[in-house]
Amino acid sequence: MTAAGASTAGCLEGQVVVITGASTGIGAAAAEALAGAGAQLALVGRSPEKTAAVAGRLRATPFVCDFARFDQVRRLAEDLSARYERIDVLANNAGLLSRYREVTPDGHELTFQVNHLAPFLLTNLLLPRLGTGARVIQTSSRAQHLGRVDKADLEAGRRYRAFPVYGTTKLENVLFTRELQRRHGDRGLSAVAFHPGTVRTEFNRRGGAVNLLYNTPVGNLVLLTPAQGADTLVWLATSAPGRDFVPGGYYARRRPSRPARQADDLDLAAWLWERSAELVGL
Ligand SMILES: NC(=O)c1ccc[n+]([C@@H]2O[C@H](COP(=O)([O-])OP(=O)(O)OC[C@H]3O[C@@H](n4cnc5c(N)ncnc54)[C@H](OP(=O)(O)O)[C@@H]3O)[C@@H](O)[C@H]2O)c1
Repeated sequence: MTAAGASTAGCLEGQVVVITGASTGIGAAAAEALAGAGAQLALVGRSPEKTAAVAGRLRATPFVCDFARFDQVRRLAEDLSARYERIDVLANNAGLLSRYREVTPDGHELTFQVNHLAPFLLTNLLLPRLGTGARVIQTSSRAQHLGRVDKADLEAGRRYRAFPVYGTTKLENVLFTRELQRRHGDRGLSAVAFHPGTVRTEFNRRGGAVNLLYNTPVGNLVLLTPAQGADTLVWLATSAPGRDFVPGGYYARRRPSRPARQADDLDLAAWLWERSAELVGL
């Protein structure tokens, strides 16, 4: 429905939209736009205070979940399933970049768990609620071009470099999109991934090289606002799969974009799905 610049007002009336990472940044900006589209919003954040503040402002329902804890992801899926009979849009947007290698209570490298395993688990647990016409949107990143999936070292145990590790998880977001579409496209589910641009958010909270761009006058000029960063997400949530975007695809600025070469390896996508299912205990 939404060509660039077209209004989304009311186009999601009555539809249930779940957004993770909605307590700030791109997720909160997307929530604001989708509230204007009439969506019934379920906003997921890690911080109870920040999530409640955004949800209160938008008359949305807040859910709190730390993706570094699978037990909390499972509880979130139960809570969402209990509350909503049907979920029309699931935006897997929560994500982080960790300067140093950290291990979660579940025993996984933090970036890999929060950016890939947790949304993989959440999506799988919510599949019974994601019926015909539902869409699952991954906030990936152009940083995927710095990443590489190493089957023998999925959790960067040998060598940890923050940007390539982050980029690998964003590449995994696209591989997950491909395989989700292959497995569930036939029953009318549409999976899609996108790059939001380089956006001024709290993303630099863990410090490191990103700060060099964020905290400079040049950064002020080149960084997008959260609303601009959310634009492609909002467009994917409100436009028509098959007509406006290709299910299983990867987008930037509302247009098809070239993902990293490994993202086109469908055997790798299938392998990653199976391996991830083992790791999350599905
Ligand atoms: N900013 C950019 O330039 C850029 C570029 C490309 C892709 N992206 C992607 O865009 C997405 C949103 O990022 P952003 O820029 O909006 O960053 P942000 O302002 O830091 O927001 C990140 C969101 O993810 C949540 N989150 C972080 N760690 C979490 C955890 N362990 N469990 C649950 N939620 C967690 C945060 O929750 P709390 O605030 O409640 O802790 C917050 O809501 C991410 O997937 C990121 O990789 C960003």
